[in-house]
Amino acid sequence: MSTPPPSDAPAIEAEHLVKKFGDFTAVDDISFSVPPGTVLGLLGPNGSGKTTTIRMMTTLSPPTSGTARVAGHDVTAAPAAVRKAMGLTAQAATVDELLTGRENLRLIGDLYGLPKKRVKSRADELLEKFSLSDAATRVAKSYSGGMRRRLDLAASLVAAPPVLFLDEPTTGLDPRSRNELWDVLRDLVRDGTTLLLTTQYLDEADQLADRVIVIDHGSVIAEGTPLQLKDRSGAASLVITVSRPNDVDEAVRVLDGRIGELHVDRDARRLTAPSEGVSALAGIAAAFTEAGIELDDIGLQRPSLDDVFLSLTGRRAEDPESARDTAGADTIEQENRV
Ligand SMILES: Nc1ncnc2c1ncn2[C@@H]1O[C@H](COP(=O)(O)OP(=O)(O)O)[C@@H](O)[C@H]1O
Ligand SMILES: [Mg+2]
Repeated sequence: MSTPPPSDAPAIEAEHLVKKFGDFTAVDDISFSVPPGTVLGLLGPNGSGKTTTIRMMTTLSPPTSGTARVAGHDVTAAPAAVRKAMGLTAQAATVDELLTGRENLRLIGDLYGLPKKRVKSRADELLEKFSLSDAATRVAKSYSGGMRRRLDLAASLVAAPPVLFLDEPTTGLDPRSRNELWDVLRDLVRDGTTLLLTTQYLDEADQLADRVIVIDHGSVIAEGTPLQLKDRSGAASLVITVSRPNDVDEAVRVLDGRIGELHVDRDARRLTAPSEGVSALAGIAAAFTEAGIELDDIGLQRPSLDDVFLSLTGRRAEDPESARDTAGADTIEQENRV
């Protein structure tokens, strides 16, 4: 029901977007461009300006300055055309708790003015796609967190938009629900949907995004592929926890020569070192067995958003000074009003 952009034009574009709330600049000159059928991840800690950016891109909040286009339509000049071309899954749930899954989807189809027959078949198609067919006649209130999130996502897809905005789609979900949602999102992209998703998790961006923009205090501090970002924050670490405190020194001797820059935390019985990768693991584990050293744990620790942040800004993403504490509450309240 919407016109896709010509195949070479970006599906989503932001040029020098700025959003001020009084004297406070929540989004400070952000630009990006997303080719059709690809995924851009907007990665940043709480309060960095992710939701504010999404709200501007989806016509819910006018930019203070700068421009944005969705499927070629300007968010300020042609908001109706933008809304027709996009779906939004906001950070707070948008479904009606007292309606069943199927009723929720049909309601949205009716709101879009789709033909009745089309609404019925589309609702059932989406319930099937999101593994909600069995729960179709249950009220949304009875759904688990993962099911709610899937219903939210299904709701934003009723009109089959070519462009989809997702604000922290998996925050608060258990690992299994997260994985299920990731699978669904990959399917959508395979079918040609363009995604812009925000996340606080490097691993989520890593799983889904073709390109990532890291934002902090409303500004872009890094961008690239997930791999490039991980490389910037250093390689994975090998982390070994020995079972007995007395074995720490012996463990250091075992690792001597096998591994560089060893960091030892005696209280935690933990040894950490940059690692070349999985191949080194097996040999090291065998050496410990041979030396009779019992291990609680041995494994690779990949960089997190926190590590990327630390290497880019010199501070941790969770530092109180990196986010205004009220950010989450403000934003949810505001989104519920939409
Ligand atoms: N309506 C508003 N009025 C004043 N400040 C706001 C408003 N909405 C968001 N902010 C502030 O803008 C900053 C970015 O918020 P937000 O975009 O929600 O961040 P994120 O989604 O990355 O957590 C925060 O400091 C937040 O408190
Ligand atoms: Mg947010």
